[in-house]
This record gives sequence, structure tokens and C-alpha cells, in this order.
Amino acid sequence: MKRIVILVSGPSRGSNMRAIIEACREGRIPDSEVVAVIGAREDAPALQHAHALGVPTAVVNPNEFPEPDMYGDALMWVLQKAQPDLICLAGYMRLLPKQIVQAYPLQILNIHPALLPLFGGKGMYGLKVHQAVIESGMKVTGCTVHFVDEQYDTGPIVLQRCIPVMDDDTPETLAARLLPVEHETYIEAVRLFVEGRLRLEGKRVKVVG
Ligand code: GAR
Repeated sequence: MKRIVILVSGPSRGSNMRAIIEACREGRIPDSEVVAVIGAREDAPALQHAHALGVPTAVVNPNEFPEPDMYGDALMWVLQKAQPDLICLAGYMRLLPKQIVQAYPLQILNIHPALLPLFGGKGMYGLKVHQAVIESGMKVTGCTVHFVDEQYDTGPIVLQRCIPVMDDDTPETLAARLLPVEHETYIEAVRLFVEGRLRLEGKRVKVVG
């Protein structure tokens, strides 16, 4: 069994997390189990959902550490106990500490609610992304699953899916229409990962087999 750990942020509602947990249980992601969900606050909606689904949870609150390195060390300690084959960021809004990125090369995935490399970077999350897409005048948007590197949203792209931007879209309607597409895209990317079908060539991720 492949061991998956999911990282969420304080306010995350956890819908991508739930999609991955359920896809593992239903066999749509084969031979895999979500062994832990790590969040910043015990009362975070995502952690409550994980708990209700019977998935072990852990809290590592970045605000409780005086230095980012100390948060990184604490997160690393929890991760090492969980022995993940894959780490999935699902609504994780911080820059992942670099010691984690270095310890798990090409083993960390993130989902972003836009077509990277557009509309990414520090501070670009949630509705702010969709607002920027609408203001840009783009007629399509989408989601991106990518490997995580040491910067925001710049790692190698694994999968992207598009949806149209309608004339009357608001950030809220766009987010709502994209969310189920995010879930399916993330499940597909995790499936390809656990099947060992992702190969990095330069900056390009190729799907093999
Ligand atoms: C998702 O839309 C995800 O793409 C986005 O946060 C939301 C989390 O929703 N992530 C980012 O913006 C990362 N920069 P969820 O908690 O229901 O999965």
C-alpha cells in the first residue's frame, strides 16, 4: 500500500482532501491509503472532516514557532512518523518549508485553482485567483496539479484541466464550477503517481505506460 499524507491550512474546508480519501477507499486510486492529515488548527473544518472519516490527524501550527525553520523541523518530525510515499497539499496556503521539499523530492503534489504559470505566486489563493482571472479578461481558466519545489506554484506541471470563463461569472461562481474539476484532476494525478507513471524530463512531466 502506498502511504499518502495530506497537508491542509487552518481555514481549509477540505473538499480536495475528502475527494482523495474517498478515491483511495473506492479503489479509484489503487493500493493507496491516506494515513494522516496534518493541519494548523484542531478546529479546522478539514481536520474535523478527516476525523469524521476515521483518518488520523495531527496539528502543527506554524504560528506557534518563532522561526520558520522550527516549524519545518516540527512538520518534518510528524511526516517522518507517517512515512509517506506521497504528500498532497490540498488548500495548503503557505510556502512549504524547504527542508520538507528537499527531503521528499518529486513526492509532493499541490493543486492550484488556475492554469499555472499564470495567476500563481505568494498571496494567490482561493477567490483572489478567480478575481484575477476575471479581471484579466481570459476566456478560459482551470486547475493545475504540480510537483512542489521551493517557491510558490513553480514546480513541474503534472496535469491541467480547463473550463470556460462566462461573461457573468463572479469569483464565487467560477470557484464553484471549477471545484469538481479540481477533485477529478487531483484524483487522476495521484493515481498516475501511485501507478509510477510520471517521469520528469527537464521541466516537463511525461505520463508513461
Ligand atoms: C482549492 O480550490 C485549491 O485549489 C486552493 O484552495 C482550495 C481548497 O479547497 N488552493 C490554492 O489556492 C493554493 N494556492 P478545499 O479545502 O475544499 O480543497
